[in-house]
Amino acid sequence: MSMAHRSDAVHVRAPGKINVYLGVGSQHDDGYHALATVFQAVSLYEDVYAHPSNEFTLEVYGDVDVADVPVDDRNLAMRAAKLLAQTAGVTAGVHLVIRKGVPVAGGMGGGSADAAAALVACDALWGTELGPHRLHELAARLGADVPFALHGGTAIGAGRGDELTPALARGRFDWVLVTSAQGLSTPEIYGRLDALRAHGEALADDPPLSLDVPVAVLQALRAGDAMALAPVMFNDLERAAVDGRPDLERALADGLRFGALAGIVSGSGPTVALLCADSEIARTVQQELQATGRTALHVHGPVAGAQVLG
Ligand code: C5P
Repeated sequence: MSMAHRSDAVHVRAPGKINVYLGVGSQHDDGYHALATVFQAVSLYEDVYAHPSNEFTLEVYGDVDVADVPVDDRNLAMRAAKLLAQTAGVTAGVHLVIRKGVPVAGGMGGGSADAAAALVACDALWGTELGPHRLHELAARLGADVPFALHGGTAIGAGRGDELTPALARGRFDWVLVTSAQGLSTPEIYGRLDALRAHGEALADDPPLSLDVPVAVLQALRAGDAMALAPVMFNDLERAAVDGRPDLERALADGLRFGALAGIVSGSGPTVALLCADSEIARTVQQELQATGRTALHVHGPVAGAQVLG
């Protein structure tokens, strides 16, 4: 594993995300569910280094367990590099080195961040200059969460989650993340939600209910008001994620007991995101959770999307 990076490598950093709000509607013919979501990019990062090469190769290391990360075409960053090369008619290859800071299979879009970072890094390495609009198109083809990792900040996601509208978010939100050694499969969690709903419950986008982000969520973000955001955070996937995972419910309950304002499962889980009133309280919540033997991280959002670093 080469930890050293040559000076001709391009370094791109892309953030993980929390879904502050995630409403899930019905499943469409393409297998994807209609979403009304609000993403916030947080200060937990994937670093991708693109080295000149004649072939397409990949290595992965990091602060989190990377044992389950594939280094072949199953890896979304590898697919991103090849898709860009094919689209732009590039004949060169790339050696990608990924340093992972976002938990694997954690519901925080780490793989999507890798793909977004790989697009930006290879675009710079090869001088393809596709521009933001084309990169967004390629990102959406790679996965529903990839466009947001390019974009960063705070944004509303419609469609499969890939139709983005920037949302105003003032100030800084402090989050404590409780990560989990045992990941969850996103398709499985969506499937479990469908199964739970098959027992008679209305879908969120069935009339008279509509699949929209509540105005209160957007107002709280715009005001930079964690107290106002806390009671309106919501995740339709949470029930499916905590099903059979009492550890997640305990992490949510302990987070509140230690001083967080509110907690939700991030995306399809199992990472738990606890919103705190300020950074000092977040530090306390993090320490208390660590003292119970959990892995807890203090992050903040919103932060920028995928960008080239010097
Ligand atoms: O696009 P991505 O690879 O992140 O999605 C992983 C899986 O999550 C999809 O194959 C699908 O099963 C599920 N998904 C969904 N509806 C969405 C986003 C993801 O059903 N809007």
